[in-house]
Amino acid sequence: MEMSLWLALILSQLIGLDSFQVPQLLVNVTENDPWIWASLPEKEDHRIRSVLFYTEYEGEKCPFYDYRLEPSIGHPWAIREYLGNGTLKISAVVETHQNETVIESFRIRSLGENSASVEPLRKFLPSSEKSIDCEKLRSSTKYCLPTISHHRGKPISCSGRLLFSESFGDNENPWTNWKHVVQSQLLEPHYEGVAFVNRKANSYVENNMLHLKVTKSNYGSKYPFYLENCTYTKRDSNQRCGEKKYRLPFRKFMPPFDSAKLISLDTFKYCRIDIEAKMPIGDFLFPGLTLSSVNRDAIRIAIVRGNKKLTDFASNEIGGRTLYAGAILNDYGTRTYELEEFASSDDHYGNDFHTYTAIWKEESINFKIDGRTFAQ
Ligand SMILES: *[C@@H]1O[C@H](CO)[C@@H](O)[C@H](O)[C@H]1NC(C)=O
Ligand SMILES: *[C@@H]1O[C@H](CO)[C@@H](O)[C@H](O)[C@H]1NC(C)=O
Ligand SMILES: *[C@@H]1O[C@H](CO)[C@@H](O)[C@H](O)[C@H]1NC(C)=O
Ligand SMILES: *[C@@H]1O[C@H](CO)[C@@H](O)[C@H](O)[C@H]1NC(C)=O
Repeated sequence: MEMSLWLALILSQLIGLDSFQVPQLLVNVTENDPWIWASLPEKEDHRIRSVLFYTEYEGEKCPFYDYRLEPSIGHPWAIREYLGNGTLKISAVVETHQNETVIESFRIRSLGENSASVEPLRKFLPSSEKSIDCEKLRSSTKYCLPTISHHRGKPISCSGRLLFSESFGDNENPWTNWKHVVQSQLLEPHYEGVAFVNRKANSYVENNMLHLKVTKSNYGSKYPFYLENCTYTKRDSNQRCGEKKYRLPFRKFMPPFDSAKLISLDTFKYCRIDIEAKMPIGDFLFPGLTLSSVNRDAIRIAIVRGNKKLTDFASNEIGGRTLYAGAILNDYGTRTYELEEFASSDDHYGNDFHTYTAIWKEESINFKIDGRTFAQ
């Protein structure tokens, strides 16, 4: 029954055919393997949102369908099929990001040994009679598609699988997967007026959410600026970590505010990251969701300034209605290349929760807000 429903849908949408062309189906045959890979190669314009593959076999065998949704990593527009010495008909119902739906059918014929022919079927629609009678319609399966992703330094075997998630539940230890950065930010390069500390007042879980909060510090003679368990270990560490004994000349190293910064214990390479967050509102707050490497290369997933209104020298609005993302490359410390792109909104991004996404591939990084790509 379900099958006939979607066929009706396709027919009604076929009328509005647009310029989008379904790419020619690619078929991979390996020696001595009766199973083939059939895939739709995607061009750089990333127009495909989803693909429904529908396979019909010779004889009495029930048809098979497989639905593939928007890619995370790897090549999702592929299915594995049994060809053997026979013939298959594969139809691909392709939905684009422009809401076009296009259907294309192909006949795949085994040519023996390790080759097969692929031929587009111009006037072919999947036959519905047999599928309605077919009770044992095979459902969607998960394939292991190769990937270039790494997790904790090790290659991942299958693409599209969840590697890590954190939900900050109320009754869990919030720091199982994280460590605090503990150091002052008052010095170079950005002279930020905060110390990152590991204190309940600045980082805590409440209502199943992680809260990061900036508080006014009151470092002085009664409460010397000294960060126990400081994570900064270089030579000038007393300036960034403080001193146990109060000294008047040292006052200039006392940060006026405390805040928190967390780093995941896990490491990743080539992956998709989704972070649901509500950015803070308040003048000169500068929250950052970032992936960074040991040599301080970074992918900035999202930065939204806390200011309600703020303009740069050229009068561009750079406050909380502007969302920044980009990448920073440190050329072994000699030079910094920074690439930044932005999206604008009528509303401060901090007024609501949003999903901030980065899709890090080998040759590109895509940035999204609430599922919409705004930068590459
Ligand atoms: C099919 O083969 C080509 C060429 O060897 C390869 O680049 C591609 O990744 C293969 N596709 C799949 C889905 O295995
Ligand atoms: C395909 O046909 C050849 C020769 O007719 C036969 O040897 C082989 O076993 C067949 N392969 C399959 C998968 O049916
Ligand atoms: C596609 O359809 C969805 C839901 O109907 C709509 O929100 C979206 O704006 C459409 N996109 C385009 C590009 O027309
Ligand atoms: C510093 O580390 C020790 C040992 O892990 C711990 O007992 C102590 O509470 C830490 N101090 C602060 C201020 O975090």
